[in-house]
Amino acid sequence: MAPLTDREISLMREAGRLAAYVLAQVGKMVKPGVSTDTLDRKAHELTKASGALPAPLGYKGYPKSICTSVNHCICHGLPGAYILQEGDIVNIDVTCIKNGFHGDTSRTFYVGEVSEKAKAITECAYEAMMKGIGQVKEGHTTGDIGFAINKLVTRKGFHPVLEIGGHGIGRNFHEDPFVPAYGKRGKGVALQANCCITVEPMVNETEAPIKEFDIADSEIKYYETSDKTLSAQFEHTILIKEDGHEILTLPENDFEVGY
Ligand code: MF3
Ligand code: CO
Ligand code: CO
Repeated sequence: MAPLTDREISLMREAGRLAAYVLAQVGKMVKPGVSTDTLDRKAHELTKASGALPAPLGYKGYPKSICTSVNHCICHGLPGAYILQEGDIVNIDVTCIKNGFHGDTSRTFYVGEVSEKAKAITECAYEAMMKGIGQVKEGHTTGDIGFAINKLVTRKGFHPVLEIGGHGIGRNFHEDPFVPAYGKRGKGVALQANCCITVEPMVNETEAPIKEFDIADSEIKYYETSDKTLSAQFEHTILIKEDGHEILTLPENDFEVGY
């Protein structure tokens, strides 16, 4: 967690803004009948058209430009021939590299009309992320973030994923510290001003163990719930400040490709 200069921070803002833009555009395409490969291609094109690179492509052998995690897929779902069905939920995770800096953001989208359970877990994942982000401030700790997330998720009757979580981010996709979805207040790693982290809680419907799957020719694994119940996730890239934080991956209306 090395603090960034003002110039590096503005580059992080630019990368974050682009990732948010790509996610918003790809999100508009989510409908029954659309394949996850179509979403991947769109993200790839928009990112390249903005003079950036899709960070996942080739990262530790990962073969696609985004992750698309449907229903019981927890994260790192591989885009492919799968056609989105009415009632599915799909997390789309976009990471862009612009001028050497990473912006990483994800949202869970509804495919048409979804069940009350699907809405509840998706809203829970969003609220959990926002509660975690609310703790981001110099001097607070990764334990404060995890505690806030876990408290919200548990109160709603869902289960945070313990094994996977957020991370430092900057010139590298994944840096220290690990940002868990559980923790003790005041414990873990102290947050330093002018560094960036992601807050990206994964929320499961049940306590069933998670299951890890290989991706051919890649060190990256994808994860599913072992009982095939739902999982949802949201992610923002956050700048830590002395007096709080700044969310770098909020979408903006006035942003156009190639600005
Ligand atoms: N974007 C994911 C994260 O939030 C990481 C994906 S790694 C990949 O950390 F290789 F699968 F793209
Ligand atoms: Co991330
Ligand atoms: Co991500």
